[in-house]
Amino acid sequence: MASTILVTGGAGFIGSHLVDGLLERGEAVRVLDILDPQVHPSGSLPSYIQGHVDTGRVELHVGDVRDRPTWRKALDGVRVVVHLAAAVGVGQSMYEVARYVEINTQGTAILLDILANEAHRVEKLIVASSMSIYGEGSSTCPECGPFVPEIREEKQLQKGDYEVHCPSCGSLANPAPTPETKPPVPTSVYAVSKRDQEELCLTIGRAYDIPTVALRYFNVYGPRQALTNPYAGVAAIFSSRLLNNNSPLIFEDGDQTRDFIHISDIVQANLLAMDCSEAAGQALNIGTGRPTSVAQLAGHIAQALGSDIAPTVVGKYRSGDIRHCVADISRAREVLGFEPRVPLANGVSDLVDWVRQQEAEDRVDIAARELEQKGLTR
Ligand code: UD1
Repeated sequence: MASTILVTGGAGFIGSHLVDGLLERGEAVRVLDILDPQVHPSGSLPSYIQGHVDTGRVELHVGDVRDRPTWRKALDGVRVVVHLAAAVGVGQSMYEVARYVEINTQGTAILLDILANEAHRVEKLIVASSMSIYGEGSSTCPECGPFVPEIREEKQLQKGDYEVHCPSCGSLANPAPTPETKPPVPTSVYAVSKRDQEELCLTIGRAYDIPTVALRYFNVYGPRQALTNPYAGVAAIFSSRLLNNNSPLIFEDGDQTRDFIHISDIVQANLLAMDCSEAAGQALNIGTGRPTSVAQLAGHIAQALGSDIAPTVVGKYRSGDIRHCVADISRAREVLGFEPRVPLANGVSDLVDWVRQQEAEDRVDIAARELEQKGLTR
């Protein structure tokens, strides 16, 4: 199978959708995945991937990215690598520091070590990066103009002042779309490891002439998001809360904004990046360019579920959280021809249709207690 595409993390949320997209294009697909119990609590392969394995359309390797022989076997005959396998809990990364660095940074380093030193057929590498590397998104002061915000200080947050202020005059700043040129200010171990993955891949790709693209995903949501994983994104968490007749818990005041992007647009970006030679050596924002507040998101989800349960503003904040980050997607538009297709309302009903079919055990309370015990929510 000289033209095999390897998707690491291919049994996961993003990976499994990408596998479907690749199979639709008639590609030969191999999946490397450890079937992490935090993501796959039953310990078995999700049915949507199992079906492809049973019909022989996907070759499955169950293994650990920290293991060199696993990588060697997985890379055999591979033309394209999409590296999605990662530990992904931001809060969890702040107390499982070594594990996050080993899986994300060291796991990627082993892949690159093999590409640099051993015979292979890899012609393209796409690595999953994250908006988390930016820290706080771009900001503009109405008086002084654009500036690069620092992480908000504890003393400010303790006073319940959550907004970003101009460092020169103290005025309330306005969020602005964040371009790839904004200097990274990672505020969690997870974010540091994502920046590492991106920089390591682009550096080795450049040095050994392997066209490499880093896709900086914004807040991805959609069917197959791990509802039982308490460290998943807010859309999955709120859906799971409402499905269990619990009120979604809002940190800060609910006016913090994110750029929520539907999973099918992430698949689209990967397929475009695979085919696009101009993307080599670049890091590209993959978002929608549209901000949505956390309170608005809770409203959209409740509406789609037909629930009248209102969210609860808990009067706490999460350590290391940012206030606003929305993508400037000009570069992805120009280089890849990327155009997000799914409006939030449609995407949320798609998520909710799927959530309804799940027996989501609400583990958010457990996770919230765990973060509190470690002093990560205040
Ligand atoms: C973080 C990462 C991002 C990663 C995502 C999912 C950062 C800056 N970004 O995004 O790379 O893809 O996690 O792992 O590190 N919230 C609530 N109630 C909840 C849960 C969350 O109000 O029950 C709020 C958070 O305080 C935050 C917002 O919702 O303000 C978004 O949180 P989350 O979905 O965890 O994503 P990010 O922190 O943006």
